Amino acid sequence: MTIPDKLLGALRDAQQVCVLTGSGISAESGVPTFREAQTGLWEQYDPHELATPDAFQRDPALVWRWYRWRRELVASVEPNAGHHALVKLAGLVPALTIITQNVDGLHQRAGSDKVIEFHGNLFENRCFVEGCAVTDADMSAEVPVCTGCGAMLRPGVVWFGESIPEAAMHAAESAVHGCDLFFSIGTSSLVWPAAGFAEAARQQGASVVEINLDATPLSSQADFCLQGKSGTLLPELVNCLTVK
Ligand code: OAD
Repeated sequence: MTIPDKLLGALRDAQQVCVLTGSGISAESGVPTFREAQTGLWEQYDPHELATPDAFQRDPALVWRWYRWRRELVASVEPNAGHHALVKLAGLVPALTIITQNVDGLHQRAGSDKVIEFHGNLFENRCFVEGCAVTDADMSAEVPVCTGCGAMLRPGVVWFGESIPEAAMHAAESAVHGCDLFFSIGTSSLVWPAAGFAEAARQQGASVVEINLDATPLSSQADFCLQGKSGTLLPELVNCLTVK
């Protein structure tokens, strides 16, 4: 695909770029996305049996088995060309912030530094009662417990029905409100509040770019829609920006 000249111009003029990523950017690393028909995690497991506070209270050992499986999977893969291209892009514009819905840490492993983990981090552990981060627990237990109060530990991710942590929400809102160019990459734009960021950015004057394999509810609103793999399109974009 040819990257539109207008988009390259908008990137050259941009003062603050905000990038929202979803599970599609990690797909080429081998991490399954959430909603794709055949490979999505949710096709094999019912999220309502695994990723809610109720489910955890009902069967914490089952939920922990699932998260251990996800941790092992993510630990065994590497950031891909899309993650690496965003690191390069950050070096080509005055400011770039990534808001990621992914909990896999792959942006940071690629070398991105300004990353807001909107849905938490798969590898963190939190006290189920007090919510504090716990780093010194015995993780070999079937259901690990908080070293402070003895309550069950849970993975440090946002579950269905839970609010976004205040600090992440605040940081994301200020990244969106300050940006003049907004990218939505590898996300189905179905899950709120993250799905509302593109429109919020557009309303305050930012141009919106979508990079996705397929059309999404955002596609008709975006100024630029690049349809294809982020692991191909992002390096192409960075390449055009450096050579043209
Ligand atoms: P989805 O599975 O809903 O969407 C993945 C998107 O990535 C789809 O639109 C695909 O077309 C696109 N895609 C797949 N491979 C791609 C590739 N190589 N390049 C570009 N695009 C590609 O995942 P998310 O939008 O991330 O929340 O889902 C959002 C949230 O829903 C998740 O963070 C999770 C889930 O419920 C929580 O767990 C709180």
